[in-house]
Amino acid sequence: MDKKVWACNEWDPLEEVIVGSVDDAVVPVWNVALGSATPSHSKWFFDEYGGKPFPQEMRDKAAYELDNLVKVLENLGVTVRRPEKQDFSKECVTPWWTSTGLYSAMPRDVMMVVGDTIIEAPMAWRSRYFEIYAFRDLIEEYFRDGARWLAAPKGSMKDSFYNQDFDPENAEPNGVRQFAVAENEVAFDAADFVRFGKDLFVQKSGVTNAMGIEWVRRHLGDEYAIHELSFDEEHPLHIDTSIVPLCPGKLLINPSWVRKEHLPSMFDSWEIIEAPEPTMPFDSALYFSSDWLTMNFLSVDEKTAIVEENEGPLMELLAKHGINSIPIPFRNFYPFGGAVHCATADIRRRGTLDSYF
Ligand code: NVA
Repeated sequence: MDKKVWACNEWDPLEEVIVGSVDDAVVPVWNVALGSATPSHSKWFFDEYGGKPFPQEMRDKAAYELDNLVKVLENLGVTVRRPEKQDFSKECVTPWWTSTGLYSAMPRDVMMVVGDTIIEAPMAWRSRYFEIYAFRDLIEEYFRDGARWLAAPKGSMKDSFYNQDFDPENAEPNGVRQFAVAENEVAFDAADFVRFGKDLFVQKSGVTNAMGIEWVRRHLGDEYAIHELSFDEEHPLHIDTSIVPLCPGKLLINPSWVRKEHLPSMFDSWEIIEAPEPTMPFDSALYFSSDWLTMNFLSVDEKTAIVEENEGPLMELLAKHGINSIPIPFRNFYPFGGAVHCATADIRRRGTLDSYF
């Protein structure tokens, strides 16, 4: 395998990865899309800091943990790349709206590698419209090195792009699930997809709609099958604390949102493993996510995972399944909305494109 960019699943041996940065992270201004995905207890944080940089102390502590993650990966022989600096405090102006940016902390959200193709997600938050440019130098380099490169059409993100009637307190009026993003333009974040070789699974969420899923389906073509799943997460946003494949035949599920009956029958021959409860008590310092970041670890290969150091019960469970955990401090990164899986984007995993079902 001489391809520079190649990844087909979440568990093949990792050879190259991008690790995000919080250096210039800015708190987004509260709006319907943000409110649809963030715990309501965190609104005060956006009211106080919206449009301003994340407090310096938060950034420093999280940056330290990211730098340590880089060292751990490099010690394992993995090549690590980092984003370009970008001034996220700059107000961007479009014909319909203006917004400050967010960060380049979560490369998993903005891009995904499927086989030898880099797919740029269009995103659905105004604050993330230009985020991909923090990774463009890298993507252009990978393109020059032979990768294929698809950039999804970016939505206008004008008011009609959002479901203005969306009520985060009642996301299922009349029994029909509603989302903050409307259905009239393509929208998805890459982190709503999870790769299992020739099969990818995706959920609709506050940032991913049917048109976005169909765009990915058509562009990946007949070699791949895209399966849509739906879980009980009240405000879905990114699938990587709901289901996590450990290796062929073993799927970790979030027991609060995912029931075996939610899974298609293609998983009947798989072992379905319930994740242990998060060790972090429900914490108002998690502004963008639930406390299930426990499950958001990074597989270096089928037998090795990089896990937040406080997640003891998870490490014990993984050990029972033959997976050795490398514990790292990462809790100071959690308030930015993700853990190790979100903070990284696989560029190369050694393996072949296979079917596991
Ligand atoms: N929205 C999910 C995923 C975050 C990475 C959660 O809050 O757990």
